[in-house]
Amino acid sequence: MKVRGVVRPPGDKSISHRAVMLAALARGTSEITGLLTGEDVKSSARVLRGLGADISTVRAGATVRVHVSRFTSPVSRLHCGNSGTTARLMLGILAGQRFEATLTGDASLRRRPMRRVTEPLRTMGARIAERGGDALPLTIRGGRLRALTYTTPVASAQIKSALLFAGLTGNVGVTIREPYRSRDHTERLFVHLGLGLHQREGAIVYEPPERRGVVPSFRLAVPGDASSAAFLVAAAVLAEGGELVIENVGVNPTRTGFLVVLERMGAHVERVNLRDEGGEPVADLVARPAALRGTEVSAAEVPTLVDEVPVLAVLASRAAAGSETVFREVGELRVKESNRLELIAANLRAVGVEAEARGNDLFVCGTTRRPSGRVDTARDHRLAMAFAVLGTIPRANVRLSERASVAISYPRFFDDLRSIRDTGHPKGLPHGRGTRET
Ligand code: S3P
Repeated sequence: MKVRGVVRPPGDKSISHRAVMLAALARGTSEITGLLTGEDVKSSARVLRGLGADISTVRAGATVRVHVSRFTSPVSRLHCGNSGTTARLMLGILAGQRFEATLTGDASLRRRPMRRVTEPLRTMGARIAERGGDALPLTIRGGRLRALTYTTPVASAQIKSALLFAGLTGNVGVTIREPYRSRDHTERLFVHLGLGLHQREGAIVYEPPERRGVVPSFRLAVPGDASSAAFLVAAAVLAEGGELVIENVGVNPTRTGFLVVLERMGAHVERVNLRDEGGEPVADLVARPAALRGTEVSAAEVPTLVDEVPVLAVLASRAAAGSETVFREVGELRVKESNRLELIAANLRAVGVEAEARGNDLFVCGTTRRPSGRVDTARDHRLAMAFAVLGTIPRANVRLSERASVAISYPRFFDDLRSIRDTGHPKGLPHGRGTRET
């Protein structure tokens, strides 16, 4: 297909979670625009409402108002849906509250590891009862916390953010080191709101105020999600012609590793109109078709593109025939919304691509063969979107097991994917088979 036009990705998922949580901790009413309307952010809003927060309806185009007088003990379990960020960050927030709460989630979330967060929170003094081993459901009783100095075993912004939230709600100091730098949206929001955060000798340090601090109410415009934009960029890179402008994208360097890797693969994506929005860099991206070559993605780069591995692997499958791409140390993909590491490889093979997960590395070989076959998304939004992009190339016949999972992070994904097709027709009517659900 050819691409054309201007498209806006939905609000950044990570920033949306943090914004609504911090607004619920703030004194007074906060107003957030551009909040993601995906299911994951609705899960955070639902959990916060269960604690007594007054949050206006999260819907497209609306300014979301958040007001809380005080968190209260929830009357029932707090359901985090499919959202790992909701579960892990809320554990941090609950660690500083003097009541008991039980968190649970859907079948996918109930398989994801939680001790990476609960162990350091226990060290801080939170009492946490496991009901499903290293997973949800968990019952947490927060209270008086101790300061913590901690090195995270994996570079995970969810662990880091949970601990910073525990420091904030428990009014204790927290010093965190991580093996590689993970996304820093929590740190930026803390700094933006004047919440006592700084860096010292490579560590992230939260220092509580002498008297119990107050989070000020705020207004925030959430930028577009770089991870959602990555699918649109990929569609443009694989296109046969044209140019696509993707507006209002967060270009925080801890999130844009995929642009760095794409550059090495031979695709240059321009950033124009660079600006600042609430402490986050924002730009418009201009993406065009490119001939790709294989590359090596290092372990240090992985945290900056951890959610983009599925779509980068799809792009790597369209690199010059026989050229190999290797993603080093992507074992964390086994514990995302699905076992992404195995499913990326298995689904690429299912559509005729040579791909293999070996240990914690992923290998993908470029081919010019027409992709054809059935893809099992395992209801994982990022697998569905990555393989839908593969389905846009000429004569592709990619059949997805389902498409509904895109509602987690990008409800309008298929509309946007259709709208960027240049059909030569003024209204951009769709043509070709693209992806179908089977
Ligand atoms: C997120 C951090 C990442 C990412 C997830 C969102 C966040 O997870 O995969 O989609 O908002 O903090 P990890 O921190 O576990 O790597």
